[in-house]
Amino acid sequence: MEKVYEGKAKIVYKHQDPDKYILYFKDTATAFDATKKAEIAGKGELNNTISSLIFELLEKKGIRTHFIRKLSQREMLVWRARRFDVEVVVRNLSAGSLCKRLGIEEGKVLSKPLVEFFYKRDELHDPLLCYEHIILLGLLKEEQISILKGMALKTNQILVEFFKEHGLLLVDFKLEFGELPDGNIGIVDEISPDTCRLWDLKTGEKLDKDRFRFDLGDLTEGYKKVLERIQTL
Ligand SMILES: Nc1ncnc2c1ncn2[C@@H]1O[C@H](COP(=O)(O)OP(=O)(O)O)[C@@H](O)[C@H]1O
Ligand SMILES: [Mg+2]
Repeated sequence: MEKVYEGKAKIVYKHQDPDKYILYFKDTATAFDATKKAEIAGKGELNNTISSLIFELLEKKGIRTHFIRKLSQREMLVWRARRFDVEVVVRNLSAGSLCKRLGIEEGKVLSKPLVEFFYKRDELHDPLLCYEHIILLGLLKEEQISILKGMALKTNQILVEFFKEHGLLLVDFKLEFGELPDGNIGIVDEISPDTCRLWDLKTGEKLDKDRFRFDLGDLTEGYKKVLERIQTL
């Protein structure tokens, strides 16, 4: 298969259909701008499986995504997108960079979900963008900003409820978006414990990539718990 791009967590391969890509989920874990890095057996498979389940759920609920189907343990077939160079973060509780930047304690319930845009550029350390920055840089048009914000909030509603039903608290998550071959905007990339903060609803145990960031325990143990919970419907 011909490689299009190799990132920190996945490899993108061409498909015989030029409108499609194959995403290969690696076992590599990175944090803090990839200054911390490790190979964690089983991570790729878990993220592909969890991500596929979530994309199926979102599609069922009417949210457009790039997902076509899970091809194998580590591979996902997706629509090729013209990806926007932004990362959209939705937060329900304070954590991570929000706490650091604004001096908020972790775990505070926000009065309403917060949507933030970040510039997807590793060499600049993915800086926070305000509305005018997005327009200035030509990253998105005004109407696209509204569409992404609307889709992100709808996705949040669906996922908060879904995870709650399975005993999990969705603290925050990151989405990427792109223009799909049919011209519609869809969610791309992955939605997994690498890109979501998920806490056990009862015990508060962290089951996501913060385990790796802050050495809180075995990473795959957490991801396995997430998968076990959301698989039982
Ligand atoms: N459907 C898609 N079309 C085009 N690009 C995509 C699609 N889904 C994901 N991508 C991009 O492919 C790359 C996936 O590899 P990843 O390891 O996450 O990279 P990175 O280190 O840049 O985050 C990312 O740059 C992501 O934005
Ligand atoms: Mg990525």
